[in-house]
Amino acid sequence: MKEKLQKIKEDALSAINSDNADLEQIRIQYLGKKGELTSVLRGMGALTAEERPVVGQIANEVRADIENALKIKAEAQKAAELERKLVTEKIDVTLPSNVAASGKLHPLTQVQRTIEDIFIGMGFSIAEGPEVEYDYYNFQALNIPENHPARDTQDTFYITESILLRSQTSPVQVRTMEKQKPPIRIISPGRVYRSDAVDATHSPLFHQVEGLVVDKGITMGDLKGMLETFAKTLFGNETRLRFRPHHFPFTEPSAEVDVSCFVCGGKGCRVCKNEGWIEILGAGMVHPYVLSNCGIDPEEYSGFAFGMGVERIAMKYYGIDDMRLLYENDTRFLGQF
Ligand code: DAH
Repeated sequence: MKEKLQKIKEDALSAINSDNADLEQIRIQYLGKKGELTSVLRGMGALTAEERPVVGQIANEVRADIENALKIKAEAQKAAELERKLVTEKIDVTLPSNVAASGKLHPLTQVQRTIEDIFIGMGFSIAEGPEVEYDYYNFQALNIPENHPARDTQDTFYITESILLRSQTSPVQVRTMEKQKPPIRIISPGRVYRSDAVDATHSPLFHQVEGLVVDKGITMGDLKGMLETFAKTLFGNETRLRFRPHHFPFTEPSAEVDVSCFVCGGKGCRVCKNEGWIEILGAGMVHPYVLSNCGIDPEEYSGFAFGMGVERIAMKYYGIDDMRLLYENDTRFLGQF
């Protein structure tokens, strides 16, 4: 029996010390109720009275040795598991992190906000008008009656005969003057629509910024001075302005306004197409008919107005040669601005 106990101990210890030993399984196999040690003890009844305590003591020692070995091995396994985790789950804080892609404002938004900021700095406030507009505001009140040839260049999308997608931001002039009496000093940025085919310089949807100043004694000199401040702030202090006579039905006199090329200073280059000048807006003194259409007495008040295309200015400003790039939403392009 002593040999049996000795054998059980050796077997158990070698099982415990083997690699990947399943300790719980071993405990059940040797020390459990139906385990090997227990069944040996059950046979103790066959022993003599002298042998019994001797064998009983050995059996207890064997049990204690196995339990002890199990405990030591369990601790070793736990330590090994922790070590394994520390190695496999270690974090290298010096590795480059995943940089979250950060968004940016669209170049058109950036340019529009820059324009807004300049005029706000000169005391203008921002007025808004609807993109779905009455023919009356978009054309008639602006001195463009039905069948007027000026409608040809501003063909747009009609909802009904008298409701359309506005082809310019100028109707906001009329809406503002109807609501507000002079002094008026507003700009109005927003989307406009024309039934133009898409190409490098045209889009059926684009953006304008309208401007309107009405007060007593407003002259063309005020218009020139204010536009000069605007152009110098946007394009640089060296910028000069050129007014070319033009015709708009809602201003009289009217002008197209160019800035000296901010890339070459006027010598001629790719950006100004060798002209030395870049056209940026239309402007003029508000036509007396438009003032009276809005209930403002042209004998008492005068005003100037201007309108500029945001795409055009953004393209010149950033050197973009194809308008379509602005609408394709390719972040490889947009991310450059
Ligand atoms: N609305 C004109 C256009 O879309 C631009 C314009 C010209 C606006 C002269 C004005 C102005 O306010 O005075 O072509």
